[in-house]
Formats: sequence, structure tokens, C-alpha cells
Amino acid sequence: MDHFEISGGNRLKGAVDISGAKNAALPILAASLLCEEEVVLRNVPRLRDIQAMLTLLQRLGVAYSWEDDGSLKLRVEDEMNCHAEYELVSKMRASVCVLGPLLAKRKRAQVAMPGGCAIGSRPVDLHVMAMEALGADSDLVNGDMMLRGKKLRGTEMFLGGAFGSSVTATANALMAATLAEGRTVIESAACEPEIADLCDFLNACGAQIGGHGTPRILIDGVASLKGCDHSVITDRIEAGTFMVAAAITNGELTLNGARLEHLIAVVDRLRRIGVNVERGEKGVVISSSRRLDPVDITTQPYPGFPTDLQAQVMALLCLGDGNSVITDKIFPDRFMHVAELNRMGASIRREGATVIVHGVKRLIGAPVMASDLRASAALILAGLIAKGTTKMSRAYHIDRGYERIEEKLAGVGADIRRVAE
Ligand code: UD1
Repeated sequence: MDHFEISGGNRLKGAVDISGAKNAALPILAASLLCEEEVVLRNVPRLRDIQAMLTLLQRLGVAYSWEDDGSLKLRVEDEMNCHAEYELVSKMRASVCVLGPLLAKRKRAQVAMPGGCAIGSRPVDLHVMAMEALGADSDLVNGDMMLRGKKLRGTEMFLGGAFGSSVTATANALMAATLAEGRTVIESAACEPEIADLCDFLNACGAQIGGHGTPRILIDGVASLKGCDHSVITDRIEAGTFMVAAAITNGELTLNGARLEHLIAVVDRLRRIGVNVERGEKGVVISSSRRLDPVDITTQPYPGFPTDLQAQVMALLCLGDGNSVITDKIFPDRFMHVAELNRMGASIRREGATVIVHGVKRLIGAPVMASDLRASAALILAGLIAKGTTKMSRAYHIDRGYERIEEKLAGVGADIRRVAE
């Protein structure tokens, strides 16, 4: 198991290329199951989660190849297997994105229930409800969701759950609806840019989808989907993480390819605490030169503040000049990083779904343990500014969602290295 060693204190300066979005690429890869022809995807990040999805797709009869120009080609060759097994689904929850495509294209889907994970309980009731609304029968057998539907029919459905919209349930609903008979209307659909990118991909394959990027998505079912050549949008969570890296080290970074419009809530909070964020020629320019003010943050579905940046911004606010309050309403248990940040000298107190971050003057390097993807990013960010050396174990968490993070950080001046054990 690799770990990272970070010596804190260097100001980051320079330019970073932002990779393709993991959370856009994953459902788009699953959507290739719907296509009759070859699909070419560009800007797909080379990540562990992407490899996990490709392994699952391979078992489901999809042949794929990485080309010399970095693009990924996929083609469905065999439609017999419809089973996404627990072994794969438990490793990566986004595997659930094959549910809608399998049901729509192969008329049946058997997908293991994902179970809980480090960021808390993550139900799938909205996914099943959407498939049932389209006319599928569902059952639970040996921990697997079994869905059958000879003929899916367009319908109206409300996808708002107790915590707002669901990103992957929206993806499943609209992917299944592309091949259903007639019109489907999804109300309270997720508005995330990754959902809009999935719809752009599907439309390029011949689907008839409108309203994506808004809470009301309309899908007119078509008989079949062809292939297409699609470039995945850039990763707003990776961009947000590098914004924090610039701010926490009082540095200046240009984030090539980052899209300010995808990060409005984050930019609003960063500007409020004193970080400079500007639109540059190639992306976003971010800099900071003083101790930052505290701020209150509540995570929300897009365009609100993303839960996937909650941990990273918490690391930044640890050094704020006062008390900040952070509430995660989407994943109320997503606070495994709190205890680790406190080991580095932070002063954070948790009360249910809220934490109070009392700003301290400095963080101190320590051995810390990554518990999940975004928590590990937060610990690396803290390590960039902590006095002394931070050793973060369980590096595999970061490899799920950040492409060559140590190379990118070292390229702009960070003292970070991966150590193989
Ligand atoms: C996606 C992202 C993940 C991000 C999350 C929230 C991908 C691959 N993953 O995950 O990085 O942290 O959105 O922005 O895109 N819920 C239900 N019932 C359901 C499904 C979800 O109650 O059937 C609840 C969840 O517990 C949570 C909320 O809805 O409180 C939002 O979760 P959801 O948008 O579904 O997260 P994911 O799509 O799994």
C-alpha cells in the first residue's frame, strides 16, 4: 500500500491542467451499454474508479481499448450477461449506473446493492423507484436488485429524495428512458454538469433529451442509439481541490480547462474569505496572500456548494481567522477527516451533521490515515501547509479520483512524494 509524504510550507505557483471529470465519465461509460455502434470518448481520466467501471463493462460484454491519442474506444460485443456482482459494486458505488442501461437494452438487470461506505449510508431507493415507474418489476434476491421490463414506457416521475435530488438515480432514470416508448418527464432531476454532459453524449448518439442542466428533464424515447465521438467535461472537483491548494499555501495557480461557471458556489465562498479568483484565458486563476476570514458553508445539490469539496475547504478553514461552521446535509456522516485534521493541530468540533472549525495559526505535520477519496485530498492539502512532514497512508483512496495528483502538485512547487510499501 503506497503512502504520501508531504513537507509543508511551499507556496504553489504555476499552471495545472485539469483532467476530465470522473463523475461525468463513469455514467457515460455505463451509457455505452445502450449503443449499437462504437463509442469514442476523449478526456477520460486514468483513475482507479474508471478502471473499475471498465472491468465491470468488460464482464458485461463490452470490448474497450485505450488508443495512442489517449482516447477510449468501446463497443458492445455480447449482451448475455446482465449481472453486476457485489465484488465490483461494493468497491465502487457508481457501478450502480449500469442498472438503467442494462434494463433498457437487455430487458433485465441484476445489480448488487452497494451497501454503506466510509461517507455513510447510501440508499438506492430512488434508482429502483425510477425503474419501476418506467414499468419494470423489481425484486431483491441474495442482496441483488433484480429488475425486469420487457417494454419500458415513458412516464412522469419525481426524483427528489429526503436529501434533494440524486445524481446517479437521475442518470439511471434518463438512460433507461432513452429507449422507453414515449415521453418521460423527470421532475426534481439532478442539475449537475456531469448529468448535462451525459445527456449531451446520449443526444450525440441519437437520443432525444431536453432540459438537462435544469430540474425538469424531458426524454422522448427512441428505438436505438448509435455511437458517437464525445469529449468529457473537465473535473470541477479536481479544479476546486487545486483552488484550495493555491489558497492554503498563499500561492497562485492557473487551472487550465477549469470552468468557473461549474464552481459558482465554491467561488462565492472563496471570495468571501479573501481568496482572489479570476477567469483567465485558459481557465481559472486563483491566488491568495493573507490570512483568510472564516465563513459558513452548507452543502447542497448543484448549483449549491458540493459535498465533494466539503473536506478540502474544511482543511482551508482550519487556518481561518475565526470560527467557521460547515454543515453537510447531503452526507451527514461525511466527517472522517475531522479527527485526522485534529491530529495535525486543527481545532474542529462535530455536532451531528455540522462541524465548528475554530481557526488556528498553524497546522503541524503528523502521520494520518485516508478514509475516503475526498478526505484524503483534504489531508494532502493540510500537509501542504503543515509545519514538518505529513505521512498520509492508504494512498489508494486518492488514486480513485485524482489523476497523478503528486505529479501535478510537485509541478507547481509542492514537496510531495509517493512512497511504495
Ligand atoms: C454522486 C457523486 C458523488 C457525490 C454525490 C453528491 C457520482 C459518480 N458520484 O453520488 O461523488 O458525492 O453525487 O453530490 O456522480 N439518496 C437517496 N436515495 C437514493 C439515492 C440517493 O436517499 O436512491 C440520497 C443520498 O443518501 C444522499 C443524496 O440522496 O443524501 C444525494 O446522493 P446522490 O446524488 O444519489 O449521490 P450519488 O449519485 O451516489
